[in-house]
Amino acid sequence: MSGKSFIRKASDLSPVLFVPSTDKRAIYEVEREQNDPEEQGLLQKLKIRYDITTIFPGLIGNELPKTFGHYHPRNLSGVAYPEIYEVIENRAWYLIQRPNKNQPKVIEEVYLIETKQNEKALIPPGFGHVTINPENKNLVMANFVANGFDFDYQTYENLRGSAYYLLHADKDELVRLEKNSYYDKVPEIIKLKPKEIPELGITWDVPLYDMIKKPETLDFLIHPEKYLELLTIKNCFTKI
Ligand SMILES: [Fe+2]
Repeated sequence: MSGKSFIRKASDLSPVLFVPSTDKRAIYEVEREQNDPEEQGLLQKLKIRYDITTIFPGLIGNELPKTFGHYHPRNLSGVAYPEIYEVIENRAWYLIQRPNKNQPKVIEEVYLIETKQNEKALIPPGFGHVTINPENKNLVMANFVANGFDFDYQTYENLRGSAYYLLHADKDELVRLEKNSYYDKVPEIIKLKPKEIPELGITWDVPLYDMIKKPETLDFLIHPEKYLELLTIKNCFTKI
């Protein structure tokens, strides 16, 4: 096993939290490129990275534990790189948002994707994303994403996080959705669940990692411009 790991503490997430924190508690851990050397060689050739992320349970102040959030850059054809996630243990909520091309404070679409174990959630081109752990257990998930570029964390930091904060709620409600006032326009959130996308080889019965066995099925991560009609909200998700 090779690869790098890092931990994000509550204090690291402070710029994107509803209430800033100086707490040094670990919120999540990312293990990059934890593959055997042969598969790692193949992934390097494909320019794709495989990571495992664990988000630990426990509120940060009143906020559900989450990742920092970022956008992906565009490839040479001008389409932003997508990403594919698989939930390995427990449940994930992916909060994805698409800003106006020239105005990061104006959000055109925002969705909360409720994803269960073995399900896979695709982050379509142009969407920023944050992952939230809604359970009082470890959330473990894997992802494939194009390698060799820097994520844009700065836009999330400039706006103090995503368009919504997910806060612990008392009484009947599980969570309270709080709009982030740093944004100029935020639509109502729409809840979705992921669908299988057989045209892209994305099904619940095939573990994400096994997609390496058919490397051509990972081409959409590098050349999303060839698959735009499949990489839509409508094709990848159902409303709940
Ligand atoms: Fe990403």
